Amino acid sequence: MNYLMKNHLLLISVLVFFNTSCQNKSIEFSNTNMITKDPHSFADPEKAVVNHLDLDLKANFNENILSGTATISFKCLDADTIRLDTYDLIIKKIEALNSKDIIPLDFHLGQNDPTLGTELLIFPQKKITGNYTIIVSYETSPNAKALQWLTPEQTNGKTKPFLFTQSQAILARTWIPLQDSPGIRFTYKAKIQAPRGMMALMSASNPTELSDDGSYEFEMNEPIPSYLMALAIGDLAFQSTGPRTAVYSEPSMLKSAAWEFAETEKMILAAEKLYGPYQWERYDLLVLPASFPFGGMENPRLTFLTPTVIAGDRSLVALIAHELAHSWSGNLVTNGTWNDFWLNEGFTVYFENRIMESVYGKGYSDMLRKLSYSDLKSEIKEFMNSKPNDTKLSIDLVGRNPDDGVTTIAYDKGFHLLLVIENLVGREKFDLFLKNYFKTYKFKSITTSEFVKYLMNNLLNEKQWEMADLENWIYGTGLPDNCPKVHPKRFSAVENAIENILINPEYPFNSSEWSTHEWLHFLNILGENEIAQNDLVKLDSRFNFTNAQNSEILSAWFVIAIPQNYENQYFNKKIEEFLVKVGRRKFLTPIYQALIHSGREEFAKQVYFKAREGYHSVAQETLDDLFK
Ligand code: BES
Ligand code: ZN
Repeated sequence: MNYLMKNHLLLISVLVFFNTSCQNKSIEFSNTNMITKDPHSFADPEKAVVNHLDLDLKANFNENILSGTATISFKCLDADTIRLDTYDLIIKKIEALNSKDIIPLDFHLGQNDPTLGTELLIFPQKKITGNYTIIVSYETSPNAKALQWLTPEQTNGKTKPFLFTQSQAILARTWIPLQDSPGIRFTYKAKIQAPRGMMALMSASNPTELSDDGSYEFEMNEPIPSYLMALAIGDLAFQSTGPRTAVYSEPSMLKSAAWEFAETEKMILAAEKLYGPYQWERYDLLVLPASFPFGGMENPRLTFLTPTVIAGDRSLVALIAHELAHSWSGNLVTNGTWNDFWLNEGFTVYFENRIMESVYGKGYSDMLRKLSYSDLKSEIKEFMNSKPNDTKLSIDLVGRNPDDGVTTIAYDKGFHLLLVIENLVGREKFDLFLKNYFKTYKFKSITTSEFVKYLMNNLLNEKQWEMADLENWIYGTGLPDNCPKVHPKRFSAVENAIENILINPEYPFNSSEWSTHEWLHFLNILGENEIAQNDLVKLDSRFNFTNAQNSEILSAWFVIAIPQNYENQYFNKKIEEFLVKVGRRKFLTPIYQALIHSGREEFAKQVYFKAREGYHSVAQETLDDLFK
């Protein structure tokens, strides 16, 4: 065992010792095992920790404001101050709910930080030990970062406005005063008043029909971290797809969504077989308007989705497997802080791949694995030049926005690390380990060092740790030499075709059976080569890339054709159309980047100027940085 590793284990032992030796003094945090201070929260859970939330909010679509009360229950230990996270919230009044009395409390807004927001300090009348409940009356700012208020024109149906939230990573505090830290969990109930004729949905038990008066009630009885708080209000309809699955979307998309995602129950069964029972009763999907900034968001019981996964051929459903997998890795066992984000995403990509293998076969999941490897290789290459420390799985985001950690490193390097361990111990042993891991830590949060300790106590010995270079994998930069590679059979045909195409763009081959993934591999390789203008024209007219209906293929084509200076009126129009319509950051960033780096900054700016107001704040923030 090398020096660094010894240090990690020593630190863990000290922390564990400290934790147990203080047990008689510390509060019983039944809902958290957190021992690390979260650098992205003002909360002080050692003094007071949330365990239940009751929301009562009204959505005002004229002013783009949510207003009402958050009734928050805490467990306290000698607490003379309770600290919450807020961001641009207008706090009107805070009261203590004392058996039957309601007592006004003093409070003030403390430290302020452009990323973390504003600390809210609340002063109980005397030091509190035990249970304590407060009522915060507040409203959100019209610019609340988690919320996107869409006009009817920005929706699919164009008749009613729409609201959705995106709380991960630290935006829950922009619509609820909370301890906004992934190490703290609570149950919740909510009452939401929507305009009549619109449906409200949350990461909780949900309605299936419109209510008469626009009022809806929700319950989440499993303890969840704050970043999983979610709300959507719009012209929404419900269609069942199985015994515990359904889709919600605007009526115009409902049928195609229900067809696209009809195999969700199969995925749940496969997931349960791998790593234990699904713990959240129902698993529904909500397809949002196209401005949704992510592919998917694993809000418990109700995954939020971009409509760009509706390809018409079920070819992008790995994204469902991904969000579903988070019902274990992420929602059941949660990253302790955002420095440990890879524990959420790396495990989820691994689990996603296993679900895809079970349902669609190894030939299919190997293609996904290879695409993940290609993304990882190119991101590592880029980062090693500009920001090598960001290639560490255990990343230090202190003083930075947790969003900086949302890169392929957490996802794909995390995934490949788990493949290394799987190869080392064999699949059977690894599966058993993972199943036990989810069981041991269910409804808890875990940091990287706690995970390493668990791994060493339950699966690996020191020799194996060293043999697999795991120190380097977790705490080092770059990609270790033992990163496993795969050569999917179905990609051989692609590679063969490309070799010939590069010599002769008219080379005939049969691609009628190719899936989206074969095309993505094709485009990846094409992008690594220089291609003459007239050859690009030939390829485009032959394969119709600029007209692709599949969002993954279309955006990949833009990203390779732009740097080759492919440009014509038609192509430009298509780029603009896509950038104005779609708000998914994963697509937007590389397209704008390609334009900027290919000397087309003016065009990029023009389009951005037009498109920006339609994007969610998390996409705006990333893209604003590109134009600085
Ligand atoms: N939880 C993430 C999305 C996220 C991460 C939002 C960090 C905010 C901060 C979600 O599960 C995710 O990973 N989505 C991916 C899906 C893909 C990897 C299949 C996406 O949106 O592209
Ligand atoms: Zn994810």
